[in-house]
Amino acid sequence: MTRRACIIGHPVAHSRSPLVHGFWLNQHGIDGEYGRQDVALEAIDGFLAGFATSGYVGGNVTVPHKEAAFRACAELDQVAAALGAVNTLWLEDGRLHGANTDVHGFLANLDAGAPDWAAALGDAVVLGAGGASRAIVHGLLSRGIDRIAVANRTLSRAEALREQFGPRVVPVAWRDLAGRLAGCRLLVNTTSLGMKGQPPLDLDLSALSPDAVVTDAVYVPLETPLLRAAKARGLATVDGLGMLLHQAVPGFERWFGVRPQVTAELRALVIADLAAKGQLA
Ligand code: ATR
Repeated sequence: MTRRACIIGHPVAHSRSPLVHGFWLNQHGIDGEYGRQDVALEAIDGFLAGFATSGYVGGNVTVPHKEAAFRACAELDQVAAALGAVNTLWLEDGRLHGANTDVHGFLANLDAGAPDWAAALGDAVVLGAGGASRAIVHGLLSRGIDRIAVANRTLSRAEALREQFGPRVVPVAWRDLAGRLAGCRLLVNTTSLGMKGQPPLDLDLSALSPDAVVTDAVYVPLETPLLRAAKARGLATVDGLGMLLHQAVPGFERWFGVRPQVTAELRALVIADLAAKGQLA
């Protein structure tokens, strides 16, 4: 029988997940489908409560439903439990299980794009304090980073991250950000600044360590103004598309039984889709 999975969100029309999973299903000759499931905020609890009879074997969850998915799961992996957010669902014996693979996606993308990023890593600076930031801070701490400065426009959200993760997280007011970049070896943007249609992230990167890595969770456009500025300074950069591709791997393996690879061919396919929709630059 055809195994069916989906991306659950609101909206989901823009999601690239069907493209990614469709590529892998085709590549591996699997009798499966991966569709879109747009579920409004007021309908999500009911949808998830009935997931076992929906015909899906599992799915991904995106904004704004990751917290609802967390609440709906009977079983959680360690990362989802720590973050209070689920982006990957599957059924076992009719019970809903949830994982958070955003952390894996972030780390695997950095590992692939800048293999030496964690060597002698001292301080990291993370911009933003929303859900993406939480996953990334969790991932960095799991790799033993000493100190993470979290700069956010709304300081209280950065302070909440310190409360959650402890004193290795240092909240920084947005206006004090420039002073935090000196000697920093990893800079991560998780804010929406730099996204197509949003203001650019306008930062003076000259104080960063010359061997710093700069990465952006934003991938529309693929080369954000931040990444362009970092390249112009000769810094190593990692774009955000790889995070999307790598976070998809564990779900596909769960639902369809094959661990897929993030290849140059897959990346090129998604880049072609971005280009076709005028979102590459
Ligand atoms: P996500 O879950 O994707 O991380 P989010 O929770 O909406 O999304 O967080 C978006 C992040 O971008 C937040 O850190 C937000 O700052 P606030 O917490 O102050 O809202 C940040 N952000 C959005 N627009 C911004 C702007 N114009 N200047 C600075 N930060 C901005």
